[in-house]
Amino acid sequence: MKEKINVFDCSEQIMKALRRGILLNTNGDKFNSMVISWGHFGIIWGEPTFIVYVREHRYTKQQLDKTMEFTLSIPLDRPDPLISKVCGSLSGSNVDKVKEANLTLVKAETNNTPAVAEYPLTLECKVLYTQKQDLSLIPEDIRSKNYPQDVEGTNPLANRDPHTAYIGKIVDAYVIR
Ligand SMILES: Cc1cc2nc3c(=O)[nH]c(=O)nc-3n(C[C@H](O)[C@H](O)[C@H](O)COP(=O)(O)O)c2cc1C
Repeated sequence: MKEKINVFDCSEQIMKALRRGILLNTNGDKFNSMVISWGHFGIIWGEPTFIVYVREHRYTKQQLDKTMEFTLSIPLDRPDPLISKVCGSLSGSNVDKVKEANLTLVKAETNNTPAVAEYPLTLECKVLYTQKQDLSLIPEDIRSKNYPQDVEGTNPLANRDPHTAYIGKIVDAYVIR
């Protein structure tokens, strides 16, 4: 069962969970989840929105560019260590994360991208706008720390790749019970 929520009533919970890692789910060639801990939850163009930041070589980026939608799965408690490890360090380009992390997929309401039962607070988002970062415009101290040019883009941690911001309109929000 899905209990619909007003997202802004849950903003504190969402932001606390984001700092520890939430799941950014996509469903292009297959379902895939990646951990994110950067993002912005707010309002633009009068719409409730969530902005995610995805580096160039993430499998997630290929999928997002095809489908232009994503589903966020947010834990109500602490993140599960197995889910964090699998979804935060392995790539969907060579791993089935549903199998490796024992994820239980739940059909979404509006999106074609399922939700994940283990992290029940769910936001379904449709991408309204994308923008790739111009590294030359980022302050030098932040750029050298977060975009080390000697680290290959396939590295799951900080690497040479810029992020692309995907502004997602929140089209559905609920808790899976
Ligand atoms: C706590 C944590 C937060 C992360 N946040 C982001 C993020 O905001 N953007 C990003 O591109 N990668 C982030 N990553 C890295 C991806 O989760 C990781 O590279 C993942 O393996 C990519 O999966 P994919 O290739 O299947 O898309 C984060 C990793 C961890 C552990």
